[in-house]
Amino acid sequence: MPDIKAPLEPFRIKVVEPIPFTGRKEREALLRQSGFNVFKIPADKITIDLLTDSGTSAMSDNQWAGVMMGDESYAGSRNFFHLEAAVKDIFGFRNVVPTHQGRAAERLLFEGLVRPGDYVPNNIHFDTTRANIEVRGAHAVDLAGRWAFDPDAATPFKGDMDVERLTKFIDAKGTGRIPLVMMTVTNNSGGGQPVSMKNIKAVSQVCRRAGIPFFLDACRFSENAYFVKKREKGYAGKSVLEIAQEMFSYADGATMSAKKDALVNIGGFVTLDDDALAGKIKNSLIISEGFPTYGGLAGRDLEAIARGLREGLDEAYLEYRTEQVAYLGALLDAGRVPFFKPTGGHAVYILADRFLPHIPRHQYPGWALTVALYRDAGIRAVEIGGVMFAKKQKASGKEIYPELEMVRLAIPRRVYTASHLKYVADALIEILANREKVGGLRIVRESPFLRHFTAELEEI
Ligand SMILES: Cc1ncc(COP(=O)(O)O)c(C=O)c1O
Repeated sequence: MPDIKAPLEPFRIKVVEPIPFTGRKEREALLRQSGFNVFKIPADKITIDLLTDSGTSAMSDNQWAGVMMGDESYAGSRNFFHLEAAVKDIFGFRNVVPTHQGRAAERLLFEGLVRPGDYVPNNIHFDTTRANIEVRGAHAVDLAGRWAFDPDAATPFKGDMDVERLTKFIDAKGTGRIPLVMMTVTNNSGGGQPVSMKNIKAVSQVCRRAGIPFFLDACRFSENAYFVKKREKGYAGKSVLEIAQEMFSYADGATMSAKKDALVNIGGFVTLDDDALAGKIKNSLIISEGFPTYGGLAGRDLEAIARGLREGLDEAYLEYRTEQVAYLGALLDAGRVPFFKPTGGHAVYILADRFLPHIPRHQYPGWALTVALYRDAGIRAVEIGGVMFAKKQKASGKEIYPELEMVRLAIPRRVYTASHLKYVADALIEILANREKVGGLRIVRESPFLRHFTAELEEI
């Protein structure tokens, strides 16, 4: 193994939380009890949990101090004004509406804009934006370029939307049927890959010419801005804050799950310039989330988000954050583990069909790898492949599998050290060396929607 430099964590640890260790026999029993579905394994039986980077961040001493400054007044809490100031400073839109998490922001925005039969383009919709559009009888359309599905090309901005496809799409459907265009930064469903400023600007120009509002799904905007600084010509000398401000200057608003780049465990918001639409959103907010100065959150949560948004733009932190993901990638590369390249902002995506070529797609190689990772090392990861995304043909029941069969190793922010990541890489390299021992699975019970959460499987 070559000597791979570990990133220096830009913090020291003041509070520790023990991680659980289990024996192989116990893990084997837990796998059987859970129907070989790692979603159903209690978290206190997981040694390293890479299921998601959402809501799993460690907060800083500064954020915890802010929690103690929570003002729990029903209306006009000072913490709302702190949040509003932070969002206006970074995002630059007139209205800031807090929500309990990202999908609530999406629901409120779409309720105000999207009618049955409409089309909403995006580079690639995240599941919750897709679901919130489809539930309104509209169509969520993915317009990422071919580069988004090529795991080997060294393209720096695989999250970019195909602008030509967008232009053609608008011409074909007409502006009357497209109430907004969205862009997900970074593109979670496409390997956590960043979007270039050039592409954001081009999409914005197309939207402005057509008179269509343009919104960013901004959960990971600071990771995206950092990639722009590092990879896009002309941005090396700008601060990440300035880059983020420029990104938002091309948009009409944004939805945000604060559970990612705002470094908190709960919260979100929608922010926009359109006062009439903001008024509508606030009216719905009162019905389902709460008064417009708290939107389903406690004052202390609002404060933690306000502080976390600014901390998430700290360049020493972002350097470590992106290097941490790249470090795991480099260790895996040295061990010949195949993954989607280059590494993105929040996760490494293993190419499970290349990792386990002896397991056919209908026996779910990605799922098999999540089972092996838990069985061998107590690590939890998530399959992003056939179990999660296969489409069933109505007549025959035959499954059509997504182009990529992957396992996502999402890295919670400021939670795991380099040695934890080394443990993960070692486990994968060991499984690869003995991969013929890993077998496929069949589904024995499943629900009609989002089956991966509850499905039960058995080994073949
Ligand atoms: C790109 C993207 N958009 C929206 C969401 C939804 O946010 P939340 O889980 O806070 O509802 C997520 C969550 O993972 C996401 O990754």
